[in-house]
Amino acid sequence: MAGPANFPGTGWDLIACFDALHDLGDPVGVAAHVLRALAPDGTFMVVEPRAGDSLEQNINPVGRLYLASSTMICMPVALDQAPEGPALGAQAGPARLTAVLHEAGFSRVRVAAESPFNLVLEARP
Ligand SMILES: C[S@@+](CC[C@H](N)C(=O)[O-])C[C@H]1O[C@@H](n2cnc3c(N)ncnc32)[C@H](O)[C@@H]1O
Repeated sequence: MAGPANFPGTGWDLIACFDALHDLGDPVGVAAHVLRALAPDGTFMVVEPRAGDSLEQNINPVGRLYLASSTMICMPVALDQAPEGPALGAQAGPARLTAVLHEAGFSRVRVAAESPFNLVLEARP
């Protein structure tokens, strides 16, 4: 069955992942598959829960909510898929998410937009 790590097709201009990369057991493997499926000038749009890179940056009302849900939902979902995987959780933050996308092979990664609840990353081949 097709899933995020083996969906068919190549040459896509845009592939988007909404609020799910951090839930995956193998986010690097999925992002690497996305990179292979994109057109040479394609874009991987990654929408993730908003978080900072440090604990201090996440001590706020939204961060507290995300930490609770991440501990009870996101991380168990990821660890069930891959017990040795990174289990990013809902507070990975832009630096960790960028590192995952670079590890997958994307060369250009930036935070393109943010709101109180989400980060939107743009990853290019
Ligand atoms: C926080 S929800 C976001 C759902 C939806 N994209 C949205 O924005 O409303 C995370 C989703 O990732 C899905 N998911 C987690 N691991 C997955 C996997 N290995 N393959 C496909 N979907 C997965 C879960 O089933 C869940 O629907």
